[in-house]
Amino acid sequence: MLILAIDTSFDDTAAAVLQDMTIRSNIRFSEVPDMQEYGGVVPRLARLSHEENLPRVIASALKKAKVDFADLDAIAVTVGPGLAIALEIGIAYAKKLALENKKPLIAVNHMEGHLLSFLANCNLSPVNYNLAFFPSMAVLISGGHTEFVYAKEIGKYEIVGQTQDDAMGEAFDKVGRMLGLGYPAGRLVELMARKGESGKVVFPVPMRQVKDANTSFSGLKTAASRIIEKFSLPLSQQDISDIALGFETAATTHLVEKLEFALKNKEVKNLILGGGVSANREVRHTLRRLARAHKIPLLVPYSPKLYTDNAAMIGVAAYFQALSGDFVKDLNSLDRQPNLRLA
Ligand code: KG4
Ligand code: ZN
Repeated sequence: MLILAIDTSFDDTAAAVLQDMTIRSNIRFSEVPDMQEYGGVVPRLARLSHEENLPRVIASALKKAKVDFADLDAIAVTVGPGLAIALEIGIAYAKKLALENKKPLIAVNHMEGHLLSFLANCNLSPVNYNLAFFPSMAVLISGGHTEFVYAKEIGKYEIVGQTQDDAMGEAFDKVGRMLGLGYPAGRLVELMARKGESGKVVFPVPMRQVKDANTSFSGLKTAASRIIEKFSLPLSQQDISDIALGFETAATTHLVEKLEFALKNKEVKNLILGGGVSANREVRHTLRRLARAHKIPLLVPYSPKLYTDNAAMIGVAAYFQALSGDFVKDLNSLDRQPNLRLA
């Protein structure tokens, strides 16, 4: 089955072509250089950029995969969650392509894409996927979401814990901005943290007194500003590294402490990791240690390109929907769902 997948949920314009689970192309145009001077994503600019770039991103995904619209079996598009005015662009364009080329359309949940991204380029027979990988616990950590999702099987999900305020990636971005690292700062915070001295700066680990699986990252932002006030300004590179390491350690410790609650009384075959913050080596190592202690594998996407937003993961989720006949019935009533949830 040949699927063209489109994602314009936030600030990246992405398109991919998949043959079943195999990625034939995966193109992403990132607006980050444009947004950097604003210190964050400006919704109106994100929309303009998607409008301008989506047609050529799709054209290059088709070209790289050496396929034409006529070859496609279906078109898939992210309908949520995400920025409403960004989602709209992808949905409108996907509808137009589906109508013009008489192809079925598949409406995909962006978070299911992150959850299933570990399956990209995996070549088991479709009937074996549920048997091999589920039930599992998925840790989805991105710029907009932080959730522990109990995946009973593909398409059957239960959110067992989630952030009460900021997402984990958002906390990296906000603390990074306070440290003068620009936007988005997740990767730079990690790089600075690698040069930090362990134990020099200690952040309080959030919500230790609350015995459940929900997370909260906004307190770390407040802690960061209190900690920075105690340093003499401007911060030296070593100060930035020590603060970055203190923050990264507390955020990661918080994540795994809450994950332990999520895993209580749940039968799981694997721990699945998805979302932009999975690109963080310390986060991956810590989760791998936890998985080992529970005697289960940690499943991550085969390439770092699949950690952050991409359309290949949307293609993977769409493939399973197509197998179960889950196509959009009425194109006219298909709308964006900025707050779409997984459960
Ligand atoms: O999944 P993603 O690309 O977009 C959303 O769906 O939100 O995640 C982006 C988030 C940003 O907050 C970014 O700072 C964070 O992932 N991120 C990282 C790293 N690379 C990206 N956070 C920590 N360490 C990294 N290496
Ligand atoms: Zn995402």
